[in-house]
Amino acid sequence: MTRLILLGANNPETIRLIEDINAVRAQYEIVGWVDNDAAKHGTSFLGIPVLGSPEVLARPEYRDCEVVNNVTRNGRERRITSQQLEQYGLRFATLVHPRVNARRVHIEPGVIVHHGAMLEAACRLEAHCAVANGAVIGHDATVGRYSFVAANSVVAGAVVLEEAVTIWIGAVVTPRLRIGRGAVVGANAAVFANVGPDETVMGNPARRIPT
Ligand SMILES: CC(C)(COP(=O)(O)OP(=O)(O)OC[C@H]1O[C@@H](n2cnc3c(N)ncnc32)[C@H](O)[C@@H]1OP(=O)(O)O)[C@@H](O)C(=O)NCCC(=O)NCCS
Repeated sequence: MTRLILLGANNPETIRLIEDINAVRAQYEIVGWVDNDAAKHGTSFLGIPVLGSPEVLARPEYRDCEVVNNVTRNGRERRITSQQLEQYGLRFATLVHPRVNARRVHIEPGVIVHHGAMLEAACRLEAHCAVANGAVIGHDATVGRYSFVAANSVVAGAVVLEEAVTIWIGAVVTPRLRIGRGAVVGANAAVFANVGPDETVMGNPARRIPT
């Protein structure tokens, strides 16, 4: 069994994902959470103890553990928190729901793919990105490092999401576009043109809003 520690004691979905993986083949033992919120230390969430801040990962008793970044507040937060975990030199678990077809898909360490996601052939999921329930990643598309693709959104074929991008619920990014580093696509937006780095767009057709 691989021992797991998760960062971010706030979202139960990843626990269910781990339970679904274990139901197919017992693979993971959850040791606890770490969380940046000191108020949670010493408490438990979903019956799993909150061990403390991420600094506890430096302790010898956790050297054999793998870590999971459960923070999906947005792509930029996912970058900050993943980098926080990276400094402890522990391996990142890669969690893909067992019913997701991941054949002919490139998946790097630390990636999380939830139930019902559709990964089309030859798409590329870079390290520490997360794809939520029911999201579609089109053929030959790239989801950049640390990016977050929220539930029921569509990233069409050959789209490139650069690093730490956020695609919010139900948004659609049409084929072959490039969404710049740190950009945010609002819920239900329909994107028909490239989006620059750190821009936020919303609406149909999606328009840039001041940030
Ligand atoms: C893109 C987004 C992040 C921008 O947030 P924000 O800058 O804080 O925007 P605000 O909430 O202040 O809204 C500003 C205005 O845009 C409108 N608006 C907000 N989001 C919108 C959207 N996705 N599409 C169209 N209009 C939107 C608001 O109604 C508001 O209009 P008003 O000025 O006429 O009242 C946010 O709107 C969004 O889409 N959030 C989705 C979050 C989500 O999907 N979470 C899922 C978690 S898994």
